[in-house]
Amino acid sequence: MSWWWAGAIGAAKKKLDVDDAPSNYQSVALVVGVTGIVGNSLAEILPLSDTPGGPWKVYGIARRPRPQWHADHPIEYIQCDISDRDQTLTKLGGLNDVTHIFYVTWASRATESENCEVNGQMLKNVLDAVIPSSPSLQHVCLQTGRKHYWGPFELLGKLSHDTPYHEDLPRLDYPNFYYTQEDILFKSVEQKEGLTWSVHRPGVIFGFSTYSLMNLIGTLCVYAAICKHEGVAFKFPGSKEAWNGYSDCSDADLIAEQHIWAAVDPNAKNEAFNISNGDVFKWKHLWKVLAEQFEVENGGFDEGVERTSLAEMMKDKGGVWDEIVREKGLVVTKLEEVAAWWFADGMLGIEGVLDTMNKSKEHGFFGFRNTKSALVSWIDKMKGYKIVP
Ligand SMILES: NC(=O)c1ccc[n+]([C@@H]2O[C@H](COP(=O)([O-])OP(=O)(O)OC[C@H]3O[C@@H](n4cnc5c(N)ncnc54)[C@H](OP(=O)(O)O)[C@@H]3O)[C@@H](O)[C@H]2O)c1
Repeated sequence: MSWWWAGAIGAAKKKLDVDDAPSNYQSVALVVGVTGIVGNSLAEILPLSDTPGGPWKVYGIARRPRPQWHADHPIEYIQCDISDRDQTLTKLGGLNDVTHIFYVTWASRATESENCEVNGQMLKNVLDAVIPSSPSLQHVCLQTGRKHYWGPFELLGKLSHDTPYHEDLPRLDYPNFYYTQEDILFKSVEQKEGLTWSVHRPGVIFGFSTYSLMNLIGTLCVYAAICKHEGVAFKFPGSKEAWNGYSDCSDADLIAEQHIWAAVDPNAKNEAFNISNGDVFKWKHLWKVLAEQFEVENGGFDEGVERTSLAEMMKDKGGVWDEIVREKGLVVTKLEEVAAWWFADGMLGIEGVLDTMNKSKEHGFFGFRNTKSALVSWIDKMKGYKIVP
């Protein structure tokens, strides 16, 4: 099969309704973290009629009840807490037709050693449940990220490899839950002959989900809406280096496309791949786009003023957000659900942590995104689902 498929790129996606879903599936996906920032893209793209490997039947896992903005995807939704081993063995061990696992979830704890513990156990619970119960299981896609090269948040890049990051770089000498997960994955696939894996390493993700622990665009849209509502300029809260320097990002639909490519293409088996849009941007340019989309004055970067974190600026804005939600008739959300200030502070403070997509291209994945136009479509989607005004 050639990698040419523009399934997720085209504006007119051929959605399958539950009613006309095929009865003979070629593949059966288990998306773990299906309401998350990439989980939502997988839930949208996998059931499309022209998705490689399809027709796909899709099971989707998360803990909370299914949100309204997710309800249109023709998937079987299963509520399961994968940190609970017994629950996972019961609920996922009861499935016997899974052919591909897409693991796109994580848990955040105070220290990296705790992250290793909980995230390792969550992945192990899923693999221990599904490998014995689904005899046709062929492939496991594990999503980790660029902290593989950069080190965990608690070190804030102090250990980082030189950029641009490539997949052959050795592991850093520090605990990292991505390494724990990889080791569990490598060991688990040995249990079943022919079972293959792939690891996907995005940078900061641009996508759509209000159930994500780290949604930068969602957070910035909420910040812009609050500035507009209060009649103040939309100021860049990050560093001068990030404002002026090159950054890149990873589009959630593009990541989903790479997962699906790796799931079905023999050239991608048992390999780790970076995944980023393939272009670079400067925050000073994207900031203008954000300001225009929310019709708020662009306050830019104020060099003469000491940096104040978004977490500090926004700490008392819960009531303001409630007011915006009420006035504009938005889907009811709490500020802490739709904004991850800590994450935006981190991501807008760094500069130049770029990767290379060479390995991915050399193995046959040529997907890319135009970051600026993709940003506008994510904002449109957030507005369309009435998450932001
Ligand atoms: N977001 C980014 O910008 C970014 C960038 C680079 C790398 N990454 C990496 O990508 C990987 C996946 O993260 P993500 O950001 O895509 O995820 P995410 O958007 O935070 O989504 C997490 C999903 O998993 C579900 N979930 C959480 N805990 C669960 C549990 N115990 N049992 C079952 N479901 C659970 C969530 O729904 P419920 O809460 O309802 O359960 C949600 O559907 C992580 O390793 C992350 O570090 C993310």
